[in-house]
Amino acid sequence: MRHLLNTTEFSRDEVLEMINLGMAMKANPENYRQTLAGKSVVTLFEKQSLRTRVTFDVGLYRLGGHAVYMDQHNGVMGKRESIKDYACNLSRWCDGIVARVYDHKTLLELSRYGTVPVINALCNLYHPCQVLADYMTIMENYDDITKVKLAYFGDGNNMTHSLLITGAILGSSVAAVCPKGEGPDAAIFNMAAEIAKKSGAKLVVTDRVEDVRGYDVAYTDTWVSMGDNTPLEEVKDRFMPYQVNQKLLDDTGIRHVLHCQPAHRGYEITDEVMDGPASIIYDEAENRLHAQMAVMATLFNQGNK
Ligand code: CP
Ligand code: NVA
Repeated sequence: MRHLLNTTEFSRDEVLEMINLGMAMKANPENYRQTLAGKSVVTLFEKQSLRTRVTFDVGLYRLGGHAVYMDQHNGVMGKRESIKDYACNLSRWCDGIVARVYDHKTLLELSRYGTVPVINALCNLYHPCQVLADYMTIMENYDDITKVKLAYFGDGNNMTHSLLITGAILGSSVAAVCPKGEGPDAAIFNMAAEIAKKSGAKLVVTDRVEDVRGYDVAYTDTWVSMGDNTPLEEVKDRFMPYQVNQKLLDDTGIRHVLHCQPAHRGYEITDEVMDGPASIIYDEAENRLHAQMAVMATLFNQGNK
């Protein structure tokens, strides 16, 4: 039974296969209307969402399947009943579990006790579905992914971790440009660096924006992630040198900008950049749909192969 929890479950060829399938689904959606016919998937959300919730629901419908949305109003997972019992019950009715959770350990428990594939729809440590859509968007703009250099600016968080891991798998270089003390988790960086040794990707952590001159793609995300109640105003001064604005693009020569969204305009990104010619941010958001359809087609059909 295969899951998508942090992307290390997949080889380079398998990640590329999913991205290519997402592109094929985007180009010819009519060919995939029955791919998950008759399948039901529960989508569990402990945290808020716009893109992930809508794209999983619409994606399942487009593949002929059915989404059962669960937020925490019907009982907080692990409180009304154990995560183990959640997983055991859901596995008897559904063909897959998509879950957005506070703690990565919840996903490990769901996958350990459930008997259906589990997809991580964001946790404290990773956001693998987002990054598949991100690399799909990059591949729409660049012919050779191994030559692309991506610079992530801001807080070393779940996005940073998934970019480092997936970049490493694909052989595509990633720099995390973060204020001192705000970089990615060291153990996760080391895990990505091990993978990068095989693929040839160059992974860097730095607090100096000038280190990414000549990079191709800028990526940014909120300076304060869900689950952390620190007001943005409190961290603003510390993170402002890493804001993705026109000057940063001019200074580095970076030509394309990504943001997973939700964006905090005027904080990690300016209006000028978000709405400007370098932004491929709404293509990226659209690609959540296609990339996740490919992930679901791959994982939720395992028994049929
Ligand atoms: N990027 C992303 O996951 O957006 P949502 O939080 O709105 O799902
Ligand atoms: N780092 C952000 C990503 C949102 C899609 C968060 O976890 O809130």
